[in-house]
Amino acid sequence: MSETSAGSPKLRAVLDGIPTYKPGKPAAAAEGDGPVAYKLSSNENPYPPLAGVMEQAIAAAGVFNRYPDMACTGLMEELAKRFGVPVSHLATGTGSVGVAQSLLQATSGPGDEVIYAWRSFEAYPIITQISGATSVKVPLDEGDVHDLDAMFDAITEKTRLIFVCNPNNPTGTVVRRAELERFLDRVPKDVLIVLDEAYREFIRDEQVPDGIELYRDRPNVAVLRTFSKAYGLAGLRVGFVVAHEPVAAALRKTAVPFGVSQIAQEAAVASLRAEDQLLERVEALIAERTRVYDALVGQGWTVPVTQANFVWLRLGERTTDFAAACDRAGVVVRPFAGEGVRVTIGEVEANDLFLKAAEAFRKEL
Ligand SMILES: Cc1ncc(COP(=O)(O)O)c(C=O)c1O
Repeated sequence: MSETSAGSPKLRAVLDGIPTYKPGKPAAAAEGDGPVAYKLSSNENPYPPLAGVMEQAIAAAGVFNRYPDMACTGLMEELAKRFGVPVSHLATGTGSVGVAQSLLQATSGPGDEVIYAWRSFEAYPIITQISGATSVKVPLDEGDVHDLDAMFDAITEKTRLIFVCNPNNPTGTVVRRAELERFLDRVPKDVLIVLDEAYREFIRDEQVPDGIELYRDRPNVAVLRTFSKAYGLAGLRVGFVVAHEPVAAALRKTAVPFGVSQIAQEAAVASLRAEDQLLERVEALIAERTRVYDALVGQGWTVPVTQANFVWLRLGERTTDFAAACDRAGVVVRPFAGEGVRVTIGEVEANDLFLKAAEAFRKEL
């Protein structure tokens, strides 16, 4: 063989055609007298880090020449206490999306099927395709809610994992206790159901169950949670799962070694200890959510009731124009071309700019 063989390194065929994850567009700097730009495109928490959390993170930064605690001992103990679960039922990862990817690695490969609603969190098709498994997308119902009966009907012998995103990203809609329990009880016990509760802390509908209560007597249920949203640690990348053995143990095997930095671990522990303060901020965001929702409805928009930190406007063909109008008004939103726009609840001023842009757009329709 010649020293340099022709062609390029062989890559896995499943990588062909993987949709690339589109992060929310950053806010552009204001130009001239233009409005300040706000980023409402990534469902982030608009509040800056709490001083006490920042202090712990800075202290941890002082030793970043060392690897972090691979077992996340302190964080695991704190989580176990907070949620009343054994440490052996916990696994952490680089954001909950990192944990979701580990769940797929642990359960699914070529020839297997992964079911999720669509549209839902845009990482699901990407991480499923990377695993080599096949995505089975079940359309949301006409109210933009998970159609659990149709998802049940989609189960085959090849199904390994089902995501239920509650509340759903990007629609903010929820599935309630009776329908969810009925679904969980019908799914075959060898299929893992992942309740993705990234926005759990924003739920105020009392009929929506806490996944951690549902997992307790269901060995095929795993609950995904994150510090990125309500706790405001999106940039530090730390999420976790609550699941029975052997799922949790498998995740500790498939996780990237040392994936959660010491800074993230310390900040997460400090956040759990400062939960009251953080949840006050969540309360303020929920008040803003109500204000934004009511104003949109008052302007004549049809908006699905949201239990997350964002609202969904089904704009269809007008999606891109609407996003451009928001851009010009100084708010960056998240368009899904041809479908709709997701808008994060942010600072009061940002929400005001968005509402003004929505009102002007509505009048032109
Ligand atoms: C439904 C859902 N799950 C998981 C995530 C991932 O969050 P992270 O990886 O920051 O924990 C997101 C982020 O937007 C999300 O919307």
